This record gives sequence, C-alpha cells and structure tokens, in this order.
Amino acid sequence: MFLTLLNTSWLQRSELMPGRPFLQIPGPALVPERIVRAMSQSLIDHRGPEFACLLKEVLEGLKGVFQTSEGQILLYPGSGTGAWESCVVNTLSPGDRVLGCVNGHFSSRFCETASAHGIQVQLLEVPYGTGIPADLVEQHLRADQDRQIKAVLVLHNETSTGVTTNIAKIRRALDQVGHPALLLVDVVSSLASINFRFDDWRVDVALTGPQKGLMLPPGLAILAVSPKALEANQTSKCARYFWDWAPVLERNSRGEFPYTPATALLFGLKESLAMLREEGLNNVFSRHARLAEACRRAVQAMGLKLLAKKNDERSNTVTAVCMPEGFDSDAYIAHAERSLGIPFGPGLGKIKGKIFRIGHLGSLNELELLGALAGVEMTLASFGVEIPLGAGLAAAESYLLQPASRQGL
Ligand SMILES: Cc1ncc(COP(=O)(O)O)c(C=O)c1O
Repeated sequence: MFLTLLNTSWLQRSELMPGRPFLQIPGPALVPERIVRAMSQSLIDHRGPEFACLLKEVLEGLKGVFQTSEGQILLYPGSGTGAWESCVVNTLSPGDRVLGCVNGHFSSRFCETASAHGIQVQLLEVPYGTGIPADLVEQHLRADQDRQIKAVLVLHNETSTGVTTNIAKIRRALDQVGHPALLLVDVVSSLASINFRFDDWRVDVALTGPQKGLMLPPGLAILAVSPKALEANQTSKCARYFWDWAPVLERNSRGEFPYTPATALLFGLKESLAMLREEGLNNVFSRHARLAEACRRAVQAMGLKLLAKKNDERSNTVTAVCMPEGFDSDAYIAHAERSLGIPFGPGLGKIKGKIFRIGHLGSLNELELLGALAGVEMTLASFGVEIPLGAGLAAAESYLLQPASRQGL
C-alpha cells in the first residue's frame, strides 16, 4: 500500500516544502528579504518627526515611480479596490456619465465601482484578450457632442487577460476630439514594471496597490492625482469620509495622516523605492520585458496558445495561457499547487476554467523564471497534457542568452 502510494504520487508535495517558495500568481509577488527586514523594525510614533521624514521620502519617491512632478500622491491603508473607490468618489458625482473601457474582469469591476456610486457607465466593451482600441474611444467621445462624459475609465494592464493598453494613444484620442473628460487609469499591475508616464500622458488619476511592481505585501491604496483631478474634487458630490482626499492632503502637508497609517508598510515602501532607484526604472522595465518575452516564447514552444491576441499588447507582468481543449485550468492549477507547490493565477469571470496565468513581476530574475517554467512543464506533463518536455525551457534559455541588441526590446 505504501509502495503504491509512492509510485502513483511521485509529485505529491510533502507538508513541509523545503527551499525557496515560488509564487507565480500575478501579485502579490514574493517580497524581497530587504523589504521584509525593513518592515520588521520597531514601529515609530505616526505623529512624530521621524514619521514626517519617512512620509516625505515615500511621497517624493512615488512621484518618481509615477513619473510625475505635477501630480500629488495619496496613500491609504487599503487595496486596489479601495483605490478605485477613492478615485471615483473624489472626482465624480452621482448621475455623472463616464466611458468605461472593459476588456476583462478587473476593468469590469472598476466600472462596477462607479455604478455603485450612482454613476452612469457607458460601456466600451471589447473581447477578452484585446487591448482597448484608441479609435473606439475616439468614436465614443466624438459622439458625445454636449460633453456629458466626465471621465474615461481604463486599465493600463488588464491582469485577468495579460493585456496592456496603450495609454499614450488613449490620451491622443481625447486630444483629437478636444474632449475635457478626466483620464482615470488603473496601473495596479503595471506601475514599477511597465513604463507608465503620468505627466507625459496627462493622466488625471492613476491608482495602484503595493503588492505587484512595488514588491510589498498587500495593504495600501496608492493614487497619483493631477491638478485637474484636484479641481474636479472641489465639485464632486459623491459621499465620502475615509476616502476623502482633502483631509489626507491637508494632514500630509504637516507630515501626518487623519487616521492611523500602515507604518510598517511605509517602512517597506521606503526600501522598495530605494531598490527601484538602485536598479533604475528603465532597467526595471527592460528586465520585465525580457522575462515576459522569455515566458511567452516558452509557453508557445510547449505548444500552448496565449490569450493576448496582439504581440504589442502582451503584458510584461503576466502571461495568460489558454488551457488545451479537454482540460480544466482550475483543476490544473490545483494539481500544480498540490504537486510542486507552485501557484498560478486562475481564469476569472468569463474565462474561468479556460486559462491559467503566470505572474512574472516584481523582484524576479532569469533563474527564478526558468524555475517557474520548469514547474509549468512538469505539472502540465503530470496532469496529462502532451507537451514536448524541455522545449519551453530551451526556448526561454536561448532567448535569454541572446545579446540585448537582438532581444527586440
Ligand atoms: C488591474 C487590477 N486592478 C485592481 C485590482 C484589485 O486590487 P485588490 O485586489 O488589491 O483590491 C487588481 C487585483 O489583482 C488588479 O489586477
């Protein structure tokens, strides 16, 4: 009996998993040791001078990551979902109309947040696997002759499908029409991983959480807001208390918050910003691009299809892989977790059971990615999917071995 068990479950994970853990979901990503250590220091008085210095430093550092000198940063204990709410209730009023761009599960929920506050969402919906076409945004805005649309809601990177939308083009669509709508952008799975330029693209609100490119545990809602968004804040009539920007900005100017802040996460954030500065933002972007391309080549060499249709829309933080016909991706993900202890992201909403997602964001290097890809190959094979073992790894390795000039970045 014991022998049979051993034979049939060669990939059965023991309760205690030795070695470095893998966490290949598209965020939270593994938190680097440096950040863990920074967060484990003793707490300080959140109304004292030391805290005021910490706050000043992280607000300035975040401006650099958002690539803004004009924007103001707002920080809350919370999550990406909280950041949606903070964005909506501070810039809009019940009854306002917005253009909600939907190409996946998270963009749909961003729009639901607006609807929950009595905002009318005019949907621009495209199939999962595609980015938001700027010409469609332009058409919608052009048709809005009396300028009723108050804002365009869009995701820079739709984490549920592994698709990046070109925000510079969306900005140009607004400019082409001369439309005054605010540009409200979710950068939850792109900030500090995929180039995002708040000032250059004249974004009005960009919002994120800390658990992806910023390499922290979850627990913050982070926003960058433009002067135009602050103006809209003056007249916005949505009910708000905790999420209200005004008291936060006022108290931040005195080095404190109107509530108890997530001090330990701010220690971590200071360290994360230092790590990003040391590596250099542009190097961070090219590392993500290189690892993402290696991952895509590996998956395709395994004979699997990517959900993202167009090459230039494929995300550099998450790869959504179509499960071969006849296999359920939720069952596969459970198998991978059980057998090798490697978690992947599931298909969400309409594509539940149809895809799995490999996260490759945050503090990640070549060998870690190759380890994860070996995990994909071994667990797919042991799940019964016929794949040429080693082909994915070989494709990724030969791409990573190419000189930077030939990697097409
Ligand atoms: C693009 C995007 N927006 C928003 C969210 C929601 O963030 P949270 O789960 O931190 O509330 C997520 C979560 O993964 C996301 O990927």
